[in-house]
Formats: sequence, C-alpha cells, structure tokens
Amino acid sequence: MSEAAMQDARDRVRVDAPLKVAGLAPYADEHAGDGALFLAPVLATIARGRITGIDDAAARAVPGVRLVLTHENSPRIGPTLPTLTVLRRPRVRYRGEIVAAVVAESLATARHAASLLSIDYAPEDAATRPDPDGPDVRELRRVMAIYPGRHRDGDVDGALAGARHRVEGTYATPVNHHNPIEPHAVTALWHRGTGRIPGPRTTRLTLWDTNQGVLAPQGVVAGAFGLLPTQVEVVSPYVGGSFGTKGVPHPHTVATVMAAKLLPGHPVKVALTRPQMFAGTGYRPETRQRVALAADDEGRLTAIDHDVFAPVSRVIPWMDPSAGPSLSMYASTTRRTAYRAQDLDIAPGTFMRAPGEYTGMFALETAMDELAHATGVDPVQLRLRNEPESDPESGRPWSSRHVTTCLTEGARVFGFEQQRRGRREGEWWIGQGVAAASFPQMSMGPSLARITFTGGRYVVSMQASDIGTGAWTVLAQIAAQALGVPEDAVEARIGTTDAPVAIIAGGSTGTFGWGSAVVEAAQAFRSEHGEQPAEGATARARTRMPQGVRGVTRMAFGAHFAEVAVSEVSGAVRVRRMYGHFDGGRIMNPRTARSQLIGGMTMGISGALFEESYRDPRFGHVVNGDLAGYHIAAHADVVDLEVGWVGEPDPWMGATGAKGIGEVGIVGVPAAIGNAVFDATGVRLRELPFTPGKVL
Ligand code: MOS
Repeated sequence: MSEAAMQDARDRVRVDAPLKVAGLAPYADEHAGDGALFLAPVLATIARGRITGIDDAAARAVPGVRLVLTHENSPRIGPTLPTLTVLRRPRVRYRGEIVAAVVAESLATARHAASLLSIDYAPEDAATRPDPDGPDVRELRRVMAIYPGRHRDGDVDGALAGARHRVEGTYATPVNHHNPIEPHAVTALWHRGTGRIPGPRTTRLTLWDTNQGVLAPQGVVAGAFGLLPTQVEVVSPYVGGSFGTKGVPHPHTVATVMAAKLLPGHPVKVALTRPQMFAGTGYRPETRQRVALAADDEGRLTAIDHDVFAPVSRVIPWMDPSAGPSLSMYASTTRRTAYRAQDLDIAPGTFMRAPGEYTGMFALETAMDELAHATGVDPVQLRLRNEPESDPESGRPWSSRHVTTCLTEGARVFGFEQQRRGRREGEWWIGQGVAAASFPQMSMGPSLARITFTGGRYVVSMQASDIGTGAWTVLAQIAAQALGVPEDAVEARIGTTDAPVAIIAGGSTGTFGWGSAVVEAAQAFRSEHGEQPAEGATARARTRMPQGVRGVTRMAFGAHFAEVAVSEVSGAVRVRRMYGHFDGGRIMNPRTARSQLIGGMTMGISGALFEESYRDPRFGHVVNGDLAGYHIAAHADVVDLEVGWVGEPDPWMGATGAKGIGEVGIVGVPAAIGNAVFDATGVRLRELPFTPGKVL
C-alpha cells in the first residue's frame, strides 16, 4: 500500500456561509417564484381501508383553486417504489398517507380548500400496536438487504450459563424524527416539448428539490413517469439539513409531479408542514433490544447476545441493523445476534443518522457499563481488554482501528473519573460516563468528477450534495490540493443533474468517495493538460479504492465522555460537558469536521434527553408531530462540547485517507449520558429518552 496521497487540508470557512447567513442561498421552495402554483396535500385519517367517496365541490368552489388531485383524475404512472404508490387506487395503507391534494394560486387558498375536501372511508381492521410478544412476530434473515439477520458463533447459552459475571437487560429506543430545519420541498415544472417535433421525447421536467443527491429523484421520477433520466433535471444547490430523510423521494414528490403534469407550464410547489413531515417522510423506528453479556473475572467477554425487535411497515419492512455493533465492537468467545419484526399498518421508516449503530450502541454500551460494575473493572479498562485484533465477524484485518487511543486520550483530555455516587452540588448529583462509538465505512459505488479550467479558475463539478456538511468547501479544497493550486483558484459546482453522476450524501461516504474521484480527476487533468492548461481544458475520473479493499473491514470509531448533573428534586438530567475523541482517518478540514462531530453529539444529547415520537395506538400515527410536542435540545441544553481526533490517514479509504464522520458522532452518546446518570445516582436507565419520570 502506498501512503494516501493527500496532506491534511487546512482550516477553511464554508464558501457558502455568506450566502446562507445573508439569506441569499436559494432553497427548493424559493425557485421559480413567478406564476407558481401551490400544492397542499391531504392525508388519510384512517390506518387501513378503502376510500369510498370524495366530495370536492366545496374545495373546487374556492376562488383560485386550479386542481383537486385524487386517485380518480391522477395521471397514470408506471411501477415505482412501494413507498411512492400514492393517488393510484382508492386504498389507504397508513394514517398520514397522501390521499388527495389541492393546487391553488396561493398557499393559503390551497390549504383552506384542502380542509374542505370531504373523504369517506371504509376502514378495515388495522394492526397498529407494536408488541414484541405478538403472535405475528417473525425472524428476519437479512436486514436492509445487506446485513446478516442471524449470526451465531459458538455456544452462547453455555457461556452465559457458566459465566463468572453476567448482565442482561432490555433496552428500548423510541421513534425519532429527523426534523431538518428546511422541510421537504419540491417545485415541479413540466416544459412543453421544445424540439422541432413536439412529443414525448422532447418533454422535459425540472425539479427544484431538497435532497441528499439529485440522482435518486431524477431516476425515481423518470422511472415512474415514463421519461428518460436525461429528460428530468434536478436542481438542489443548497439543502437545509436532512439526516437521512432526504435520501430517497417521498410521496409528496410524486403528488407534486402529477399535479404539475396536469398543469403544464406552471411550476407547482409544495413545502411540507412540520406535522406532514412527521406523517410520511420516514423516521427512525422504535426498537426493543435484549442484550446479555458474560465475562470472566478480568472482564474479558465470553458471550455477547443481542436480540432486536422492531415493528415494520407493511409498505416496506424497514428495520435498522441495530445489532451491528455487537458483531464488530468487541472480542468475545461466543456471539449471537437476531432480528425480529412485526408487520404493522404504519408509515414506513427510513435511514436516520447512523441507522442501527445509534440504537444498537445505546444497548451494547449501556450493558458494557453494567458489566463494568458487575466485574468491578474500570469502564475504560473493560473496553480496552476487549479490543478485537481483527474484525470478529469476518476475521478480516481492520483497515485501521484506533479505539484504544480514542479511549485513553479521550479519558485524559476529559479528566474522566467516576464518582460511584456521592458528589453533590445542592440538589444536583454529579456523575460521569463513557461509551464507545463506531460506524461502518461502506462502499456505495463509484462517483464521477470533472475538472474544467475556465476563466483562469478550476471548476470541479459532480452531483455531490452539501446537506450542511461542508461539501462545497471540502471538495474544492481537495481539488486545490491535488492540483497544487491555491484554494481560491478552485470552485465546486454541485447539487445539479447537470454534472457527472455521483452517489448520494449518505452513509458518511461523501468526503472519501467523492473526494477520491476529485483527486483522480485532478491527477488526470495534470497529466493531460500540464501546469498551464488552455481555456476549457477538462478531465474526468471516478472514485478509486485500493486493490483488495474487500479484504479489510473499514470503520470509523470514537469514544464519548459525559458529565451530568441530575436533580434529586425534579429528576431532570443536565449534560454539563461532553468530550468525544474520534478515529476519522485523515481530517480534511478541521472546522467542518469539528462541526460534523459536534453536530452528531448535539443530536445525541437531544435523543438522550428529549426526542420521542408518540404513536397513537389506535391508528399508529405520531400524535406529537410538531416542534412544540417533539422536544429537541436547545442551546441551554448543549453547554460545553469539544472534540478531538487521532488524525491518522487510513490507507484503505482511497486517495484522501479520510473516514466518514457524519454519523459516528451521534453513536454512543445516549449510553455515555445514561452511564453518567448511573454514576451520579445509581439509577440504571435502559429506555430513551431519559425524561425526569424515568430518573426519579
Ligand atoms: Mo444517512 S442516515 O447517511 O442518509
């Protein structure tokens, strides 16, 4: 292996920051303003059944209404994702599914008219109550199509039965919703054929959309509406957060494109309300996990047993790979994981920041803290003693693994010292906790990048998406370094289908996956055009990973340290300070990297203390679907966060040597906080979020 090609890039402020701070960066809802029409979706109020009639007379009578879209007048569409088959048949699959939409000349008119639609249903028996002991619970052989469902290694039951020390618990995590600041929004415009011969071939469709990559909406919409991908243009330069919910299109996109098809020449736009975001744009599913650990007197693991239960939607059986951390985090003589699912008539879940690792590491790292207390081994020591030399699941070597440094250096910087109950300040009990973090580094396929020299500057273009991560900035930095030119001689052009195809901003793969293509393109550019290129000189290349990359396991790692204060009066948990030390390979830009990691930790604090979507057991929908009812951490809850990193390049991550850090920062945070609450109070919390009633 040759050493990775890049240097550590310098700190650089976001190139898009001035536009965003000044309110000048155009978001999806702000394009195509002139003559735009507004769409208001209408959501089903039953969990399952048939639509028997729609009375739209009152809605149509409202001045300014241009279209009432239902299954009766919707344009036919072809096969598409099961999640997107709306407005085709008079059927309801979950409460909150789009069953109609009103398009009007103003948003207020559209919403008012939508409220006047009268829809009759014939409800059918619906299963909407999650029940891990229900008769219809089934075991899954694979999760998300790629993760093993069942894993067996050795005699777990024997090891648990004969163990010197053993802990066992049931850990519960609730439904969480992503809540990006910018809601889902799309503006759709069908252009009439502009070629010499009008017809389907010359039809074009433009979508101003908010997403994690333009490829998915382009491909999905083209497929559903019988167009070639080249006939669909997607524009989304700026995205106001996502966390997974904008990875694949949701039903409102289909409804809006349908409406726009019936109103050619008019841009039709929708921006979902916060309650609509909670109804049908995916979420992190609730889990109930049982973890049992066994260890010898030194704390060396002899068994890891991790069983995951989650309800899944009948629309698609989305389930997070929550047992993943139990396969890879620690050495153990025996190991067993299993997944059980229950099919319900509920809205489908989707990716949410660190899907699987976030929920699974809460269970595993809480159990590890319980084991530390059972064995009397210091919690940092316990983890160090169970470091696996190679990937326990596959036996492959690690591409790099610096968990030991994350734990020891993190403990030193933080000043980690557990109190074992006793430190008090007035009504507050004070304690500290630790938890480890990991996130796999997936291969999402190659991306293409193009570099063009024009007007004395280098333009690097690809379909990458900056969802708040800093991609605008970092991709230009990577290109500048690979070209050997100053950073301000390079600009990125991303967030449009009018650029070489790239993978979505998902799975923490952007910087190393896109970045590798950028480095390769820069090297191709230099070898083809030299140091003094002509105007218009261009080169393109694709992501390249080292030969033999399938023979290693690549993961990002980290260790979190938390100090909490717990009120003995109210039961409130306050996170006084947190420190995370990470193994994220080479860090390309310390400023944006720190923001990613601190952002993940902030979301982890929020999930630990507040976030919970409550289902109505009768209908399976979320009842606290707005930011008044769904609490998130505010500034006062996030007091003192800091991060550090190992910074060692990983030679198996391509030319950048960088690992993805968009997700690892959230993993393990709730466990670190819960373990600190135990240190402070002796109360063991196995259910998120840690609301006061669970502490008292
Ligand atoms: Mo994400 S949860 O990496 O789309």
